[in-house]
Amino acid sequence: MTTNANQVHALETAALIKKAQETLVANDLGGYTVPTHGLYPFQWNWDSAITALGWKHFDEPRAWQEIEVLFDGQWDNGMVPHILFHQDSTTYFPGPDIWGSDKRVKSTSISQPPVVATVMKDMLETADNKVLAVEKVKSLFSSLVDYHLWWYKERDPLKTGLVVSYHPWESGMDNSPAWDEALHDVPCVDWEYERRDLGHVNSAQRPHKSEYDRFLFLVDFFKKHKFDSEIIFNECPYKVNDVGIISILHRGSKDILALGETLGIEDARLNVIAQRIALTESAINTLWCPDAEYFYCRNVLTDTLCKVRTSAGMLTVFANLADEKQTDILNSKAKQWNEASKFCMASTHPEESRYEPQRYWRGPIWLHINWMIALGFEAEGFQETADKLRNDCRALVDLSGYYEYFNPETGEGCGGKDFSWTAAIALHWLL
Ligand code: GLC
Repeated sequence: MTTNANQVHALETAALIKKAQETLVANDLGGYTVPTHGLYPFQWNWDSAITALGWKHFDEPRAWQEIEVLFDGQWDNGMVPHILFHQDSTTYFPGPDIWGSDKRVKSTSISQPPVVATVMKDMLETADNKVLAVEKVKSLFSSLVDYHLWWYKERDPLKTGLVVSYHPWESGMDNSPAWDEALHDVPCVDWEYERRDLGHVNSAQRPHKSEYDRFLFLVDFFKKHKFDSEIIFNECPYKVNDVGIISILHRGSKDILALGETLGIEDARLNVIAQRIALTESAINTLWCPDAEYFYCRNVLTDTLCKVRTSAGMLTVFANLADEKQTDILNSKAKQWNEASKFCMASTHPEESRYEPQRYWRGPIWLHINWMIALGFEAEGFQETADKLRNDCRALVDLSGYYEYFNPETGEGCGGKDFSWTAAIALHWLL
């Protein structure tokens, strides 16, 4: 770049940093950050963890508070729910009444990808205020271990090495085509309801009614069985090994062990986590499809792989679950995937027949997923792939700002605007 171009770039960067910080501040409801006003008016699990990564760049105490408030909603059995309904709102459906929440902090009865451990490790390692960071990690550590043990005990009681997910919303990739077959086997609810998402976002970017009917059937099912783990494990009509959750959980578990070691924490439960890590490592290849040379999710109830290439499979690199040869293959695939659209990695491969560039999780780009994938490739020495993802993501925010997600062909921002995790990833990774 010439000196002038450099100056313009620096000015743009400064403006983007300011805008990202303002976005988080505007979405702050006092201790927790909503993903965006209106569409998502509560605290979401993995959004909060990612958002803390943004806060830490300009307000470390506030970043730790985000995590503390998230754990404040933890259930006695260790689960950290996918949504905490700290206050009422009329702009979101389904709310706490539909979920049948009976906890002190009202919540949903499922979780979300547990990226919080990895975030906490990053926050400790990069903290300016080390004393504060050490104090916070120490006070949250036991709850964090409880959360991971909840995943293993409740979602893999048979010790297969691969946890199951009970709802597409638990994956965080709510409407991914990977869930189509499994979801199709779930009955529809037989009551009328009014969706609120369509009042905020164009229906072409959101799930169809047939999917929503089934999402709600599952919500009812958990409530009907009073969240009883055994009954739900045995009878849930939707059970999927989500390679995204499995990878994020695995990486997080290794980060917990590392945190424990750094801080000299002795806790016998860490041995259980270490055993589960080994189990997952021995089981992951059952999700590898040799024909496609890709990691897929699996419908556990039919024991079939969900054969559609979604970005979740790339998270095995982030988790270091892919072996050297697989990582090499995934790197070539990532290059080809990136070239198949104008901007970085689309959530569904553009050559898949179910790819839709604008519809929720069926094609659009999410920045935090690209960040995790880039981290994975970078750690494995594939710097060029990591740089390509980062540069493309930067181009997206330059073009469209902090939308919830982006059209991989045009770069257009879609979904909610002034979105917390997009602003946070920009602060943390892009700027
Ligand atoms: C949608 C996304 C989910 C996210 C939530 C709040 O439901 O699919 O991943 O956590 O919005 O942003």
